[in-house]
Amino acid sequence: MSVVPNPGNGKITVPDLLQRKSAAGFPSKTQKITCLTAYDYPTARLVDEAGVDVILVGDSLGMVVLGHESTLPVTLEDMLHHTRAVRRGARRALVVADMPFGSYHTDTSESLRNAVRFVKEAGAEAVKVEGGERRLELIARLTEAEIPVMGHVGLTPQSLHALGGYRVQGKTPDTAEQLLRDARAVEASGAFAVVLEAVPRELAAKITTDLRIPTIGIGAGPDCDGQVLVLHDMLGLTFSPLPKFARRYANVGKIISSAVREYCADVRAGMFPSDAESYHAAPTGKEEKEAPVNIDGDW
Ligand code: KIV
Repeated sequence: MSVVPNPGNGKITVPDLLQRKSAAGFPSKTQKITCLTAYDYPTARLVDEAGVDVILVGDSLGMVVLGHESTLPVTLEDMLHHTRAVRRGARRALVVADMPFGSYHTDTSESLRNAVRFVKEAGAEAVKVEGGERRLELIARLTEAEIPVMGHVGLTPQSLHALGGYRVQGKTPDTAEQLLRDARAVEASGAFAVVLEAVPRELAAKITTDLRIPTIGIGAGPDCDGQVLVLHDMLGLTFSPLPKFARRYANVGKIISSAVREYCADVRAGMFPSDAESYHAAPTGKEEKEAPVNIDGDW
């Protein structure tokens, strides 16, 4: 699949997203940036073909796909593997890969080498890193190396232990002030967008007005320049209660369970496969030729 952006071919690019923010009258309802996570080829294809602007290969895959209790165990190799699959499924959307915990927390050179792998080996068009002021140098270094960076402030799940749990951030005047400083630092260091996670609507609105780069909210109210959700949350493919901010648009989990139950019942009752779903021997007397299974349209 081509990933090369040509002006006019509809491919979403980093400059497009920046331009949307700077366009007069932004934010308007029609120009809001849509972002969803995807972790494999079929979900990337479906999400891309349905018209989402940005696909985030989030490290949330650790929880919703790999069954870990947090995002912390996710490895660089996990993320590269899933980003490659998403890349193969996405044509139009901008593909952003999350850098997992530990892959950008030691020295800047190693972090840069890891970020380069996402672009070079997995086809990501940008990477996302969590953290505000303390990521200034890193984001500047990646941007300088032509790797577009999406920041992420507020509730940063990789800081689970430091934050003492998954909690709304920026609720007091002091923490709100720090969050604003974090968002400004992300912008100043060269990031092209910033995720605001689990922050009060009023603070997210203030940050959105303050910044020149787009804000993408998750649990940050409707005034951000765009929204992101974890695909498995919105599709009903998770097993724990949803956070307040997540809306379930479909119950795909229920559809899968019922299809599997029906299949098991059919097999047990001898109803699957039917004769029409079976291959047949050549009529007796005719020479039997070994043929590929799909040559007579049976496949
Ligand atoms: O990993 C992820 O899916 C994310 C989003 C929730 C923003 O970081």
